[in-house]
Amino acid sequence: MALTKTRLVCLCNHVTAEEILGILRAGALNTADVQKFTAAGTGCTRCVREIDAIVEAYQSTVKKDPQLRIDFEK
Ligand code: FES
Repeated sequence: MALTKTRLVCLCNHVTAEEILGILRAGALNTADVQKFTAAGTGCTRCVREIDAIVEAYQSTVKKDPQLRIDFEK
């Protein structure tokens, strides 16, 4: 499944991939932080694995080298 910035990751709480990245850029360290500040993943929890993947992608790319970006489709 392709990830786009506007992709609605959490259907229960209407949280997009871009919103999750925004909270990571603001200093969130893990999925629990994302859940705390966006409420993503706090409903049915079906999206938690996808949030984990976004956090992992962020931690392994953008955070280590701010020049890098997660490969989103346009
Ligand atoms: S889809 Fe994210 S909590 Fe249900």
